Amino acid sequence: MHKKMNIGFLASHNGSNMQATIDACKSSALQATPVVVISNNSDSGALARARQEGIPACHLSGKTHPDPTALDRAILEALLRHDVNVVNLAGYMKKLGPETLSNFQGRILNIHPALLPKFGGKGMYGMHVHEAVIAAGETETGVSIHVVNADYDTGPVIAQTRVHIEPVDVPETLAERVLHREHTFLPETLQRIVTGELRLPVP
Ligand code: GRF
Repeated sequence: MHKKMNIGFLASHNGSNMQATIDACKSSALQATPVVVISNNSDSGALARARQEGIPACHLSGKTHPDPTALDRAILEALLRHDVNVVNLAGYMKKLGPETLSNFQGRILNIHPALLPKFGGKGMYGMHVHEAVIAAGETETGVSIHVVNADYDTGPVIAQTRVHIEPVDVPETLAERVLHREHTFLPETLQRIVTGELRLPVP
């Protein structure tokens, strides 16, 4: 990546992946700047963390903008105003609108707690993912980082890492181990984009 990476986060809940990425920026392990945090949930941990870190925090949702087109524009406008060039969906539970998707084509990344294309798509979020992985008798799972398109979890995967499943694992233990791995894998992958080792499919 030639330009400095300015990251805009969209997150709905806790924002622990976002926090791990912010921490990596602060330690310079990731040479990027977190410039804005947008959440659809005014009570989210993600917004509280952003305020704590002094990063501009915006609540934008169906409550603030009942019209989906207006919401899409407000999200796009916030990203542009803060000079974002890479968008990171870090536990964002909503779909992005067409204007944001087309303006940031190839530059919106999502992190998913499984080895896509397995265990992705509608309904595959949170504990449901790990329950499905264990129910399927898998011996390994992992973390995927993929480019976002208009569907759930179907854009090109740019990085994956594997996590071993122990016979004693239950969804909760697996969820904890996968999330722990996410916290290092996300900033590491972003840094590989900064150095140019990994290229985003920007048109
Ligand atoms: C993570 O498991 C991520 O893979 C998924 O949502 C979860 C977000 O967790 N997309 P957190 O908000 O970062 O703690």
